[in-house]
Amino acid sequence: MHDTTGPKRGMTMLRPTALSLKVERFPAAMRLLHWLIAALILCIWPLGFVIHLVKNEVSLTFYTLHESLGFLVLWLMLIRIGNRLLSHSPAAEGSGLERLAATTVHLLLYLFLIIMPVSGFLATNAHGFPLMWFGVIPVWSPIGKTPDIAWTLSGIHYWSSWILLALIGLHIAAALFHHLIRRDATLYKIL
Ligand code: HEM
Ligand code: HEM
Repeated sequence: MHDTTGPKRGMTMLRPTALSLKVERFPAAMRLLHWLIAALILCIWPLGFVIHLVKNEVSLTFYTLHESLGFLVLWLMLIRIGNRLLSHSPAAEGSGLERLAATTVHLLLYLFLIIMPVSGFLATNAHGFPLMWFGVIPVWSPIGKTPDIAWTLSGIHYWSSWILLALIGLHIAAALFHHLIRRDATLYKIL
């Protein structure tokens, strides 16, 4: 009797890899936006923090760069949310509880990636410094100089920046956990 279930003699054994299992990835536009926004945030966050530490002569350049890149993130995020709602994305991996945790962190990331540029934009206008995008394009604002709310908006910007950083830390730790310990296809889906 021949064994019909096992591999035939002379046949090459292929180890199934994430690639050969045909894992569904995020659509190309979503993957591009993910890494573009991630790279921008990793520049904007430290830029915002060193604004107060740099010398007066260059601080205006730091403000303009930080604010202009941050404002760019707002528009990229609006495109990203539209794209997310209109296109199909793969389901998260793991147990029900893990998927709930992942969805919650992702939703909070989306929320704070909107709160950050909006609060920064409104704060700078409320302090009386309207945004000149990359030093060239004047940007219309719904509010003008409003000292009463300026520091509240700055406070929202400040505290949200720490919440965003904590969420990003959690997010990266989870991605590494999936990749290095679980060894599932989570990271591959976004590459
Ligand atoms: C995703 C976008 C953004 C991130 C992650 C971000 C992050 C930060 C961080 C970490 C700081 C230092 C903490 C603080 O002093 O508040 C900061 C400061 C600041 N950011 Fe942003 N920011 C973003 C967008 C913007 C935008 C769009 C504007 C204005 C158009 C802006 C205006 C400012 C200003 C003026 C400060 C100095 C703080 C102050 O003088 O009160 N930010 N930002
Ligand atoms: C500033 C940095 C980052 C931000 C703001 C960010 C934000 C996000 C958001 C909002 C999602 C949800 C996408 C969706 O379902 O619509 C996501 C997915 C994902 N991100 Fe990030 N990300 C960042 C950096 C990273 C890094 C450095 C890694 C890898 C180490 C990573 C790995 C992933 C993976 C694997 C997914 C897919 C998760 C899944 O399918 O459950 N991200 N990211």
